[in-house]
Amino acid sequence: MKNILVTGGAGFIGCNFVRYILNCESELKVTVFDKLTYAGRLENLAAVSERFGARYQFVHGDICDAAKVEETVAVRNIDTIINFAAETHVDRSILDPDAFVKTDVYGTYVLLEAARKLGNLRFHQVSTDEVYGHIAGHRRSVEEDALAPRSPYSASKASADLFVNAYCITYGLPVTISRGANNVGPYQYPEKVVPLFVTNALESMPLPVFGDGKQMRDYQYVADHCAAIYLILKRGRIGESYNIGTGSEMTNLAMVEILLDELDRPHSLIQHVEDRLGHDRRYSLDVSKTLALGWEPDYTPEEAIRATARWYRDNRWWWQPIRDGEFKDYYDTVYGDRRELDLQ
Ligand code: NAD
Ligand code: DAU
Repeated sequence: MKNILVTGGAGFIGCNFVRYILNCESELKVTVFDKLTYAGRLENLAAVSERFGARYQFVHGDICDAAKVEETVAVRNIDTIINFAAETHVDRSILDPDAFVKTDVYGTYVLLEAARKLGNLRFHQVSTDEVYGHIAGHRRSVEEDALAPRSPYSASKASADLFVNAYCITYGLPVTISRGANNVGPYQYPEKVVPLFVTNALESMPLPVFGDGKQMRDYQYVADHCAAIYLILKRGRIGESYNIGTGSEMTNLAMVEILLDELDRPHSLIQHVEDRLGHDRRYSLDVSKTLALGWEPDYTPEEAIRATARWYRDNRWWWQPIRDGEFKDYYDTVYGDRRELDLQ
């Protein structure tokens, strides 16, 4: 691993991963390939560019553009592709699934083809726990479970996983897949629940909890997720998938209580609103296979939520321009006419 292509590297997890891996590997060169959608921002990588100089390069491109992908891989002598690029927000996928099918399914296929044609390159797919669907009772998802996605977003990510496995079996492409739980941390677009609620709370706006708020999620710190992906690249078995999370989930209401406490804001900001369509009640990962590689998360979910709340409190320069831009229309569309529920 000398020259890696990080697709979607200007997004939330991608930019944290680029920073992480450049710190880990002193000889490594990283090319970020990113379309710069609403979620991709060059300012997320500004400090990386300053600190790592020529070891970091940026290419503005769409992973659905096969010619541009193949040219970039060939010209830059890429030996490893790590695919973070995706449309990632469930509520946007409910409004309009089109971009999800294009980027998350077709775009992944384009990258796999480039990897196959240009020398059977090492390929890592960044996937999600949502591909397993809602998990009932006390069960935890293991990597061998059948995929049972239920939203347009998770259906597109599951389709991509199936293509990645097919390329390994059919063409012998050296692939791995990681399936991560909910990430929180610096540079997450404020449409996702934790940064949305933190920034709303900082602006004294209501926190729109979908339905009863008893849905369960495993909130992991983004740096822990990045460390696990790095380890899978180094030690993961080709053809295998790995779950990444703390292995401990909490309700959304518990998450809200923690962030309000950290910010010292009143609980009266909580507002129950009409639920998300097809809302998965619970995700829960068995992460023992990734732990066995020698990885361990540094943050509990509570520590991750508190650290994230502090980062947004201290970095208004980053999120205020976002909230003043495209985000406003999005917020009106999703929350403007949403019915309030009387569940208090
Ligand atoms: P994000 O929405 O913050 O960033 C996505 C990035 O992909 C952006 O920089 C965007 O510009 C880029 N992109 C989108 N379409 C593209 C295209 N066609 N070509 C090139 N670039 C494109 O996403 P994130 O939260 O950082 O998620 C990264 C990956 O991790 C995704 O694959 C997602 O499914 C997966 N994942 C996310 C989470 C989470 O909690 N956020 C958890 C598990 C897995
Ligand atoms: O589980 C991993 C996935 O986590 C990633 O693959 C996705 O890319 C990422 O978006 C995330 O999906 P979720 O749907 O779990 O995340 P989101 O932040 O949108 O919502 C988390 C929980 O909070 C979920 O139960 C819905 C709820 N929620 C969300 C929003 C935006 C609310 O109650 N109110 C809200 O306004």
